[in-house]
Amino acid sequence: MTFNNSINSFNNFPLIRLRRNRKFEWSRNLIKENNLSVNDLILPLFIKEGNSESEKIESMPNVFRHTIDKAVLICNQAYELGIPAVAIFPVIEDKLKSEDGKESYNKDNLICRSISEIKNKVPNIGIIADIALDPFTTHGHDGLLINGKIDNDKTIDILIKQSITQARAGCDIIAPSDMMDGRIICIRNALEEEGFKDTQIMSYAAKYASSFYGPFRDAIQSSQKLLGNKKSYQMDPANSREAIQETALDISEGADMVMVKPGMPYLDIITKIKNEFNIPIFAYQVSGEYSMMRAASENGWLDFNGIMEESLISFKRAGADGILTYSALEIAIKLNNS
Ligand code: PBG
Repeated sequence: MTFNNSINSFNNFPLIRLRRNRKFEWSRNLIKENNLSVNDLILPLFIKEGNSESEKIESMPNVFRHTIDKAVLICNQAYELGIPAVAIFPVIEDKLKSEDGKESYNKDNLICRSISEIKNKVPNIGIIADIALDPFTTHGHDGLLINGKIDNDKTIDILIKQSITQARAGCDIIAPSDMMDGRIICIRNALEEEGFKDTQIMSYAAKYASSFYGPFRDAIQSSQKLLGNKKSYQMDPANSREAIQETALDISEGADMVMVKPGMPYLDIITKIKNEFNIPIFAYQVSGEYSMMRAASENGWLDFNGIMEESLISFKRAGADGILTYSALEIAIKLNNS
């Protein structure tokens, strides 16, 4: 399909009237440049200990902390709807949190049990598991806090153990969200050595130090605990060239796909990465984005499905191949019925 550029169409009025193509639904569908499908959606899930319970998350209406058995049911529903993958996050009990986050590489931890249960019961849905220490540390940081600083290289040693443990449990995609330098190559080498040469890595390549993560930290119960902020490892929202550098490094270190996070405030970053590299790109529409859309809808100020679909297509337009969104189930139902 070719379009005349807008300067020409201006000169050529009334020969060119762009509204002709917009007149009917079928015609609008015909000229649609981007489409949203269930194949684009990844569902993030919070998992907690216990049995047959789905607990509300105050700051994320309609999102729950599920026990493993409930999470399996949701995964099955997601699979039936055509959602390709879920991204799972554990809510770790206080008594298992420590300074060094060692529960992160306990082979019987909540996340490993979740991975094997989901694999067992819903074998054909992709499982993405986060690599970072924040659910497991008493201080809420993604890395090891040593003398008031996050120690990059010592953190990597733990992230490697966490990655191997999750790969052994059957995780399909390892998703390092910790933002330590050099962690992708270290994890990739360890996976190769341990025989997990086909385990995919989705790196949180451009992850910004964002205030939009607030409700997520409530969800995994790490917000009260966070000492200080994450600005010494997550990116400065003022930067975009640096995102290209981060992405180039992660690709050269063996990432199979990359992510930009948060989503809507960073659409320009998605487009820049798309223009620069040939690699699948994912956008994470994070908790704060979800919650503000949900809150405005619950107040009757905005139409949830309308704004959600518009925001999801904006990710496609920007160049994302897929989107992690807490609305994945609802949107998949809507897409399947339209
Ligand atoms: C932590 C992690 C965070 C999110 C995903 N993994 C929070 C943080 O970096 O503090 C945020 C996701 C969201 O807000 O939905 N490793």
